[in-house]
Amino acid sequence: MKQPLLDMRGIIKSFSGVRALNGVSIQLDPGEALSICGENGSGKSTLMKVLSGVWPFGSYEGEIYFEGNLVKASSIRDTEALGIVIIHQELALVKELTVLENIFLGNELGSFARLNDEEMHRRTSELLARVKLDVLPDTPIRDLGVGQQQLVEIAKALNKNVKLLILDEPTSSLTTTEIEILLNIVSELKQQGIACIYISHKLEEVLALSNWVTVIRDGDHIDTRSAENLTQNDIISMMVGRELDELFPREEHDIGDVILKVNHATAKQAGASRAQVEDVSFELRQGEILGIAGLIGSGRTELMQCLYGSYDGNYEAEIELHGESLAIRSQRTALEAGIAMVPEDRKRHGIVPIMSVGRNITLSVLSQYSSWFGAINEDQESQDIDNYIAQLKVKTASSELSIKNLSGGNQQKAIIAKCLLTHPKILILDEPTRGIDVGAKYEIYKLMFTLVKQGMSIIMVSSELSEVIGISDRVLVMHEGRLKGQFDHQGLTQEMIMNCAIKEDTANV
Ligand SMILES: Nc1ncnc2c1ncn2[C@@H]1O[C@H](COP(=O)(O)OP(=O)(O)OP(=O)(O)O)[C@@H](O)[C@H]1O
Ligand SMILES: [Mg+2]
Repeated sequence: MKQPLLDMRGIIKSFSGVRALNGVSIQLDPGEALSICGENGSGKSTLMKVLSGVWPFGSYEGEIYFEGNLVKASSIRDTEALGIVIIHQELALVKELTVLENIFLGNELGSFARLNDEEMHRRTSELLARVKLDVLPDTPIRDLGVGQQQLVEIAKALNKNVKLLILDEPTSSLTTTEIEILLNIVSELKQQGIACIYISHKLEEVLALSNWVTVIRDGDHIDTRSAENLTQNDIISMMVGRELDELFPREEHDIGDVILKVNHATAKQAGASRAQVEDVSFELRQGEILGIAGLIGSGRTELMQCLYGSYDGNYEAEIELHGESLAIRSQRTALEAGIAMVPEDRKRHGIVPIMSVGRNITLSVLSQYSSWFGAINEDQESQDIDNYIAQLKVKTASSELSIKNLSGGNQQKAIIAKCLLTHPKILILDEPTRGIDVGAKYEIYKLMFTLVKQGMSIIMVSSELSEVIGISDRVLVMHEGRLKGQFDHQGLTQEMIMNCAIKEDTANV
């Protein structure tokens, strides 16, 4: 019998007594792609960390065979030497270094030791062309968008002798075009005999790309099926244990008067030639869900940062809240005025990694629990924490656990809880469901409708067009810093938004 490239048998992994993986087995042949699906916290990333040596041999039970040999890796270096390369869910490039430096980082001592500058430049340019990324090798990583950084990670992986490429949620922050590029790269790699393990909550991609789909639920191996003839609904019901009859649970709600007016918002980085936000004006009504669409880099996030006082360049805007003009100069002013935001880049702005899940949730409202002599009313605090953990179904062994140990999607839910606790009048959600599983997305949408029914207004920036259309009452489309279009959700299609987001001359404002 032919031996598979990869054979993981009965993997069990526990964290302080809690089982994250409960005997998961997968096999893979060269040139094949296997997707792993499962809810947030089901154990997908943990399984990949076991495979790639992040969790070393001896720290888990079960066996891993690669090309027929038992793998006893003590670090990620050992598995890379075998040809197993992982690109983690949270990007790991060094921001201060250039594209070239990052691509060769950790590789200098290998077969590239004798490459001179010129050769490294040539090789980097080749790799960048292969991932269709149009930037110079000397560009600092800090200047690239998240999507572009993702492509650099792949270029970096291709620079190694890769036989099995693991992509842990590679597309959660990519634009439609970038996703297409990535999917093409993966199918090219498959043709070259490279195997791929793919983790994504976007089931369309999963089906488009894989030969096999493995579903895990709460660390249990539910099934591995051929992707042929498999539907999204099949995967969902294996993941969640039930069928979801609709993906967007839209609920009727009343929309009231205009509560927020933003006029002539402009934002620019010091020394930049072009403004990131240019003369944008819009209104928001009470109880409204306002969607903001546009390509990455179109200024959506920066516009929101102006409203939340977190933009790091120069910005101006005439803002009127409940008919009174308001100057937002800091996050504190925004929070005091009742504006809260769940940021896009949760690693940088959202969480304090070493603090507990609970404290991360209550961080911006700690003073609410303090008495005049400075003591914290811990009972009230932990009651609130438990409430929100339950309401948002944050999967954590305890609220005392440091938040960095939570799965990606569950960290995101904790940040949403943190914002809700400030009881905002206006809630800004920047890519709220990025990296969130289908079941939890459903819960978040439900929650959004509950909140607007209570009179809250929500602004949601999202790159997922189906979500923008499925959830918003009204949609604004941005293009190169300007507002290009404004649509009611009725009759709105993805094509209408895309046309507006891409073309120079569509104007509907
Ligand atoms: N270092 C750690 N210490 C303690 N618990 C951990 C650690 N890493 C992961 N866990 C727990 O193991 C479980 C599985 O987490 P994992 O990150 O594998 O989930 P996932 O399927 O990748 O989820 P997501 O879709 O949200 O990325 C979670 O309950 C998580 O909290
Ligand atoms: Mg994960």
